[in-house]
Amino acid sequence: MTTQHALPSYLNAEDLGPWGQYLKQIDRVTPHLGSLSRWVETLKRPKRILVVDVPIERDDGTIAHYEGYRVQHNMSRGPGKGGVRFHQDVTLSEVMALSAWMTVKNAAVNVPYGGAKGGIRVDPKTLSKGELQRLTRRYTSEISLIIGPTKDIPAPDVNTNEQVMAWMMDSYAMIEGNLSTGVVTGKPISMGGSLGRREATGRGVFVAGVEAAAKRGVKIEGARVAIQGFGNVGGVAATMFANAGAKVIAVQDHTGTVVHSGGLDVAQLHKHVAEVGGVKGFPGVEQFMERDAFWGIESDILIPAALEQQITAAVAQQLRTKIILEGANGPTTPEADDILADKDVLVVPDVLANAGGVTVSYFEWVQDFSSFFWSEDEINARLTRIMQDAFKSVWEVAQEKNVTLRTATFILACTRVLQAREVRGLYP
Ligand SMILES: NC(=O)c1ccc[n+]([C@@H]2O[C@H](COP(=O)([O-])OP(=O)(O)OC[C@H]3O[C@@H](n4cnc5c(N)ncnc54)[C@H](O)[C@@H]3O)[C@@H](O)[C@H]2O)c1
Repeated sequence: MTTQHALPSYLNAEDLGPWGQYLKQIDRVTPHLGSLSRWVETLKRPKRILVVDVPIERDDGTIAHYEGYRVQHNMSRGPGKGGVRFHQDVTLSEVMALSAWMTVKNAAVNVPYGGAKGGIRVDPKTLSKGELQRLTRRYTSEISLIIGPTKDIPAPDVNTNEQVMAWMMDSYAMIEGNLSTGVVTGKPISMGGSLGRREATGRGVFVAGVEAAAKRGVKIEGARVAIQGFGNVGGVAATMFANAGAKVIAVQDHTGTVVHSGGLDVAQLHKHVAEVGGVKGFPGVEQFMERDAFWGIESDILIPAALEQQITAAVAQQLRTKIILEGANGPTTPEADDILADKDVLVVPDVLANAGGVTVSYFEWVQDFSSFFWSEDEINARLTRIMQDAFKSVWEVAQEKNVTLRTATFILACTRVLQAREVRGLYP
């Protein structure tokens, strides 16, 4: 696709990174937006970008500076919502794309949020716990100008967790001088977190997987599942598929790949990862492989649940699977999407498959406002219903328009966002 884009000066047109991937996805949905397409440029520009310097004192007395970001892509449907990522490869292009995918995702499952995302360019494994706390608190203070319970609500993403959210909430509460429980989600239960939030994304991936499998005539019982990433999303999805009788035949993380055609013992693998920090060295498996060989493993369901741009055109050629459930954000490039469509692989896109996390984040936020907390069963049941309904709506659009599930999700979501944009009108 050769559509030209008016690019902001801070992007490198030669290397757009994940933002370029997102722009191509918008190009694909635009012909389906009818009269709303006059507003489509709104989706190609983040509403607001904040780049901050985050200095901390290291334990050895030196001063280190890190680059931090918060991007609010679109707020037509509600306050910004999206995670915070701590990773050495975080770039502005990546945070922009992740914020835009949050706009689409929140609209796809119809929760009343816009899209936002944040990140710090840091490898948190190189920091002590004290340094990590200082980094988180200073970052929160720098972005406190634009976040807040009714403005923009961060949550965990890669390498951030309940503890990081607790520090964020406490820092924001100190600055504001009030409780501010609803400023972040994914908090510990003891300070206003929601039951079921930790597992929500993986659970949502599983629910979407059950729906997709039914459409493809794949039985979950005995289905061969391969997973890249064994963290919050991949690890929980692995447990849920294994509990439902599927065989998790391969898991890859940043340390290595483990494979067992008879099905890995997922509970034992969790213990191993908790002890040594990765899947590498897990005993009793059939083989460890070259990193790229992972993509050639034959499976029924493949779950990329690590980082973006993993399934490139070359990887897509290699894949031998029936269904891809995108636990990660942006794991598949548009070129790979075309190859997978030709190969008749059913791709359940990130903006649908991993929306369970933000859905329960929404429940957490609602519970915080009323200080009235729901049971885990209630949360899981509501989550399952929202995921099933969203899948059904997307499937219908895909059938009606004869498009992939990704384009169908974008049609549904972008229509909702741009309808809100249009009815609000432009200020002033
Ligand atoms: N946590 C959430 O609620 C949530 C919600 C929606 C989407 N996501 C997306 O899911 C993905 C994973 O997030 P998470 O919260 O599980 O993160 P996490 O930090 O808990 O886990 C990340 C996993 O990816 C693995 N990994 C990292 N680099 C890798 C590499 N080069 N090759 C193979 N594996 C690698 C890590 O070893 C780890 O197992 C991200 O794309 C994130 O944006 C997360």
